[in-house]
Amino acid sequence: MSVYMCPVCGRSLEMAERSYVCGNRHCFDLARSGYVNLLISKHTAKTVHGDNKLMVQARRDFLDKGYYSPLCDKLCETVVRYSKNDNILLDAGCGEGYYTSAVKASLDKSDIAAEIYGIDISKTAVDYAAKRDKSIHYAAASVFHIPVADCSCDMLITLFAPYCGEEFARVLKKDGIMIMAIPSEDHLWELKQAIYDTPYKNEVKPYELEGFEFLNSERITFTMQLDSAEDIQSLFSMTPYYYKTGKTEQERLCALNKLETKADFELLTYRKKG
Ligand SMILES: C[S@@+](CC[C@H](N)C(=O)[O-])C[C@H]1O[C@@H](n2cnc3c(N)ncnc32)[C@H](O)[C@@H]1O
Ligand SMILES: [Zn+2]
Repeated sequence: MSVYMCPVCGRSLEMAERSYVCGNRHCFDLARSGYVNLLISKHTAKTVHGDNKLMVQARRDFLDKGYYSPLCDKLCETVVRYSKNDNILLDAGCGEGYYTSAVKASLDKSDIAAEIYGIDISKTAVDYAAKRDKSIHYAAASVFHIPVADCSCDMLITLFAPYCGEEFARVLKKDGIMIMAIPSEDHLWELKQAIYDTPYKNEVKPYELEGFEFLNSERITFTMQLDSAEDIQSLFSMTPYYYKTGKTEQERLCALNKLETKADFELLTYRKKG
């Protein structure tokens, strides 16, 4: 049984050969890499389709070099701490599955059985993710229309991806856990200083979220030593400032081939209310 529901009619989807099929015979074939495309045009007509190939490749290369491993380790530790056996976990906005795979590996290592799902609106991202790890179910889908049944997930992780509290609460079971990563105040401060005339610290919003009880916050701060222009460019392309940066700042960025900069994150844990 999968937790997927048909994006056309809402009935549950069953796996048959290499397709998911609902009771009304709507059929969604697996791509060669193993992900399923559950995006339908009425849900995506006016929205962007997430990260493009260059952004996905840059992030994959950067993350695979281990620059954010302290965050990844803390995330895995937190997931294991709040997991029970036979967990169903959804990574909402999973990108190319760097964290999703790491979470799966640490649950396996702790002998905690889990079914893991990852969705992202970018087909390139879930294509990479599915190639990386065949034991995870990946789908192209939006966090604003999650093709997953009500109250079906024990845990949801949302890492630097768009937030949709209503959908996240809908798919979580009663008392389900949500773990969220956000950049904190000093994140990439030295990188911003090197590029902008007037750099600003990140604004950290209040932790309270409608429909969720706040359980815990952990700050993860460490220094990264970037030794190539390529890694600095990749890091910058992962930030929201990338497309808002003018010519002068782009030139300053291109001139950098060494940089020591802080990474500063918060990992927030919530429980679904009610
Ligand atoms: C900054 S990346 C984070 C990816 C991954 N969680 C990570 O931390 O490596 C944001 C991701 O959100 C995805 N995204 C953007 N809009 C989305 C939406 N409406 N639904 C699902 N994913 C979306 C992008 O395609 C991208 O992969
Ligand atoms: Zn259907």
